[in-house]
Amino acid sequence: MNSDVSIILHPDYRIGTVDRRIFGSFVEHLGRCVYTGIYEPGHATADAHGFRRDVADLTRELGVTVVRYPGGNFVSNYVWEDAVGPVEHRKPFLDLAWRTVEPNTIGTDEFLQYCEREGLEPMMAVNLGTRGVDAAAALVEYCNGQAGTRWADLRIANGREEPYGVTLWCLGNEMDGPWQIGHKDAHTYGRLAADAGKAMKLVDPTIELVACGSSSMYMDTFGEWERTVLSYTYDIVDHISMHAYYEELNGDRASFLGSATAMDRFVERVVASADAVGAQKRSDKRITLSFDEWNVWYLESRFGDATDLPIQRDAPRIIEDRYSGLDAVVVGDLMATLLNHADRIAVGCLAQLVNVIAPIMTEPGGDAWRQTTFHPFATTAHLARGEALQLKVDAPTFATERHGGVPAVTAAATVDPDTGALALFVTNRTDAEQTVTLRHPGARAHLEGGRAVLADHDGARETQKAAEAYGMVDALPITHGDGTITLTLAPESWTAFHGSLER
Ligand code: AHR
Repeated sequence: MNSDVSIILHPDYRIGTVDRRIFGSFVEHLGRCVYTGIYEPGHATADAHGFRRDVADLTRELGVTVVRYPGGNFVSNYVWEDAVGPVEHRKPFLDLAWRTVEPNTIGTDEFLQYCEREGLEPMMAVNLGTRGVDAAAALVEYCNGQAGTRWADLRIANGREEPYGVTLWCLGNEMDGPWQIGHKDAHTYGRLAADAGKAMKLVDPTIELVACGSSSMYMDTFGEWERTVLSYTYDIVDHISMHAYYEELNGDRASFLGSATAMDRFVERVVASADAVGAQKRSDKRITLSFDEWNVWYLESRFGDATDLPIQRDAPRIIEDRYSGLDAVVVGDLMATLLNHADRIAVGCLAQLVNVIAPIMTEPGGDAWRQTTFHPFATTAHLARGEALQLKVDAPTFATERHGGVPAVTAAATVDPDTGALALFVTNRTDAEQTVTLRHPGARAHLEGGRAVLADHDGARETQKAAEAYGMVDALPITHGDGTITLTLAPESWTAFHGSLER
């Protein structure tokens, strides 16, 4: 398919300010994300605290802002009190979510101090699976409380005088999922989240709370779950969560390339569900979205079921997906979708950061390196600044089995009001080159250049060497005309253009 595509970009048509917290990621006590991922004492690059400098440097290069912790499914049977205080007194516990012996060497203080040193904003999750109001409020007090009360004083006794000031808090994780330890129906969870959230905000009214939304748009309870949970929590929480993983199933490349359209519909449906509750309550408050788990994950085709895992210890290799060029194109397109909902998405977390379905891989005692998906994330986090623009994209659609008709070309753009820096992200989902005419009425636009990721047909880059051989390439030539710019997009590609926009 090769057809003309048109994009109109106008400086006055804006979606909203891009919240930098959409460039978040996720560190779960799962597999090798923590142990031999971010943390490996004895590694050649380990800092004084035992954290790998090579991983921290790649995290910085990736442009990550927020990091969600400690899970994920892990949090739903976590006893945070067991992982604070002197390390030699901490006891290992059997994490039932991933059937792994957790040594508790890294806990709340180690993680929060790592975030401080690395300039990352922590997003903490509380256990609403096996625990409840008490443990959740106590953890907020431990992290954010001033001296003079039990849990804040415990933090001080453990060597940390200053409160950490953690703003973002998840009220549990995927509580709609039957796989979750302590899984609940929407009414039970909604009441518990409201009670826990109320207590947590009584400890610290400055925090922002995330209620669990659906684990996927394809859950049977989707929609009704959001409506019910928000009917209990609307006045207490700030955000509702969304989780989505995409994969190529049964060789259906077209549907996989259209994944971001599914993400787009998911966002619109959650916004509609949340706003319907707000309307019924005659509330002026708008709930925003925390897309706190998203990525390409070969969950159905490669992973299967966590209950089949044997009990393991010493940071086992679990879900260490290796990514292809095609996966990188889809990740770029998914990121553009987050930008196109800048008015409603406040937080986004690429799940996860290291080793577990991650842009960064490591070997114990060895190197750290970038997977293919690293490149579109880092490029977007670096270029997308300021305001997201409301583009008008006219492109033909193609049919997919999973999502029906999807656009052949998608786009997102941002402009930095302070500098006039323009960033334009365009995905060509077809196997032919596409010509795009970009019109920019009411402004002078100039694109200096672009870099692209291509969906080569090489398949997943299984080894470090193969992953490192993959990189971004220069965009095809850009032609400037009078009020128009002509772009050529490589087949199955995601391209980030940079330039300027002036009135
Ligand atoms: O990111 C891996 C897992 O996916 C998380 O633990 C869980 O929340 C989701 O199902």
